Amino acid sequence: MIDCAACGAAVEPQISLGRMPLANGFLRFEDFGAEYFYDLNAGMCRLCGLAQLTELVPPEKMFHGEYPFRTSGSVRMRTHFRELARTVAAKHLPAGKSFVVEIGSNDGTLLESFAAGGTRHLGVDPSANMVDAAERAGVRSLRRFFDEATARDIVSAEGQADVILAANCFSHIRDLRSLASGLRILLKPGGVLIFEDPYLGDIVRQGAYDQIYDEHAFYFSVISVSRWLSTHGLELVGAEPVDVHGGSMRYIAAIRNRLPPSPAVAAHRRREVDGGLDQPALLAGFQRRIDQSRSELVAFLNRLKLEGRRVVGYGATSKSTTVLNYCGIGPDHLAFITDTTPLKQGRFTPGTHIPVVPPAAFNSPFPDFALLLAWNHAAEILEKESEYRDAGGKWITYVPEVGILST
Ligand code: TMP
Ligand code: ZN
Repeated sequence: MIDCAACGAAVEPQISLGRMPLANGFLRFEDFGAEYFYDLNAGMCRLCGLAQLTELVPPEKMFHGEYPFRTSGSVRMRTHFRELARTVAAKHLPAGKSFVVEIGSNDGTLLESFAAGGTRHLGVDPSANMVDAAERAGVRSLRRFFDEATARDIVSAEGQADVILAANCFSHIRDLRSLASGLRILLKPGGVLIFEDPYLGDIVRQGAYDQIYDEHAFYFSVISVSRWLSTHGLELVGAEPVDVHGGSMRYIAAIRNRLPPSPAVAAHRRREVDGGLDQPALLAGFQRRIDQSRSELVAFLNRLKLEGRRVVGYGATSKSTTVLNYCGIGPDHLAFITDTTPLKQGRFTPGTHIPVVPPAAFNSPFPDFALLLAWNHAAEILEKESEYRDAGGKWITYVPEVGILST
């Protein structure tokens, strides 16, 4: 049981995924005995419809000097953010001296476009290694968690922002009330807030339960976001589905009564009501689907093991920690997992202790089967690894269903 981060009502868990290590807790052999575990449970607030984790991990355990996730690791994401920067510049940046702030700026991938165009900007991110990487890319950054106090400090030092951006970040910030007050303080009257996160509707539709992990404290919907913002003097004026991270929603907000809401907001709300996306019963039904998916995936991998097939994992994603641990998939199922992130290579997966190796290991020799743990990057990876398919290699997926990907 936890108090809803948006409205304060009590939230009970409807989904239980058992004991979990940190999604990005890739560890060294010598640290096997000292892993941090918590109960991965999620529920929906009956009052405001916000789906959220019901047990939280202290943020310092997740976002620190060795935080391994880098936005720039995916070509598709780099293109996506260049396009977002172009849209913002064309539609939302007033001529003259404008100021753009990104919350959760990671390695500076999104703000780089603004920096290159000479726009005044500031990235805010708590991870020291990411701030260093961003600064090296020419992106001015502040190493700090974003909250009301940070917003006040930015406003007094640099003024209010014309545009506030955040991608895959707000679902990581557990104090939504302090976040919203900070946004209200930082946003210039007439300015816009644009943020995107994995969308509850896509998670449930695709059975993508691996989006549930410690860093994703929230699974937003248009209904829950508009209720949350409206209690802080903000208004949701736009909502656009975006095809990244396995299905996300881009939310556009402004100070109340400043900008006309797009008809898309009401249309999404209606669809969500029809689909029960604001009803806790949705998550109870989702648990049944998750359990079914686990049975099928484990049976599939056990059969391959019995047949003596060589199976590896592809992409040591944060999401994979949920799937591997919930299904009990370890080194006896997957010989290794390849990943392009240097900080993950040479380490072992959280909880399940599968070695993570550089991509060069993938084709030497090609495995018989590869479990596509980075399923949200399927198009990019299948194209890059076309030789594997040509050599007869098979991709296993589990989203939306367990099976072999037709390539
Ligand atoms: P994400 O799903 O959170 O974006 O993380 C993607 C992970 O997958 C990240 O660790 C990098 C890895 N990856 C590869 O190893 N190869 C690839 O081609 C891509 C796109 C990602
Ligand atoms: Zn609530």
